Amino acid sequence: MRILLLGSGGQVGHELRRSLALLGDVVALDHPAIDLGQPATVAGILAKCSPTVIVNAAAYTAVDRAEQEPGLAHAVNAESVEVLAGCAAASGSLLVHFSTDYVYPGTGERPWVEGDPTGPLNAYGRTKLAGDEAIARSGCRHVILRTSWVYASRGENFVRTILRLAGERDRLSVVDDQFGAPTAASFLADVAARVLERHRHDPNGPSGVFHAAPTGGTTWFGVAQAVLERARSRGVALKLAQDALVPCTTAEYPLPAARPRNSRLDVDRLQREFGIRCPDWREDLHRIVDELTEGAST
Ligand SMILES: NC(=O)c1ccc[n+]([C@@H]2O[C@H](COP(=O)([O-])OP(=O)(O)OC[C@H]3O[C@@H](n4cnc5c(N)ncnc54)[C@H](OP(=O)(O)O)[C@@H]3O)[C@@H](O)[C@H]2O)c1
Repeated sequence: MRILLLGSGGQVGHELRRSLALLGDVVALDHPAIDLGQPATVAGILAKCSPTVIVNAAAYTAVDRAEQEPGLAHAVNAESVEVLAGCAAASGSLLVHFSTDYVYPGTGERPWVEGDPTGPLNAYGRTKLAGDEAIARSGCRHVILRTSWVYASRGENFVRTILRLAGERDRLSVVDDQFGAPTAASFLADVAARVLERHRHDPNGPSGVFHAAPTGGTTWFGVAQAVLERARSRGVALKLAQDALVPCTTAEYPLPAARPRNSRLDVDRLQREFGIRCPDWREDLHRIVDELTEGAST
């Protein structure tokens, strides 16, 4: 397999470098070698690589900034994705792409299933949905992995932010009325590798949209609690006292982009069709907190 990996410098992309390495020749492209903000340039760059598989982990992911620059977010998340899908359709390549819980409207209590009606609440979600729809329209062989609340031991993410703030502050409020599951980038990279492996043996393997996230769920406050409990259990000294982490509402913590209240994703389809076990959300979280606090115990 000749695998073209886009966004290899991001949280998921970095993990994909590891997980895809055993499956074939990986060509990793990132800024400035490819700029998805300029969709007209993308097909020419792809033609030089002639990949058999395209794995797209690149995206405009600044959710709040996207409200100010929806045009750039759309170019990266929708127009360039349409070009990638068109190239995959023309060459018969497989396209593996990542999408988001933010394509759903966040209503109700039950986990979303892949066929549920979409209804993004913010500009980022609208551009990601437009990308998903362009892929489906193109007719290319594709697997879209919709995920939520991604974190890793590198990059900008909630887990690293909470650990940093707990070392600096003596009080911290965290939103406790948005529900979902934190997803490790390493888990997503392993899922993508399994998808590629399956398609190598079975080119007519499962395709379409799949939710990829751990099982169970919590709120952002619940994630923060789990992160800090794990850090304390390892003897990490934090400025923040145990009772100084306090829950708050979304209304008390206004941000430029609206967030879905219900981001729970039903992962049955992924587990069933690809034979993948999605772990409880705490499993990877504990491992990453351990990694991040290595050597920090007192
Ligand atoms: N992060 C989350 O909480 C979350 C939640 C649900 C779904 N997802 C989806 O999961 C996927 C991976 O997300 P992630 O957290 O790994 O994102 P990330 O860490 O923000 O990485 C995004 C990657 O895309 C690249 N990129 C951005 N703009 C580009 C452009 N114009 N041209 C070329 N490359 C560009 C970035 O490069 P530079 O750094 O050089 O700009 C970076 O390598 C994305 O599809 C995202 O929508 C993420």
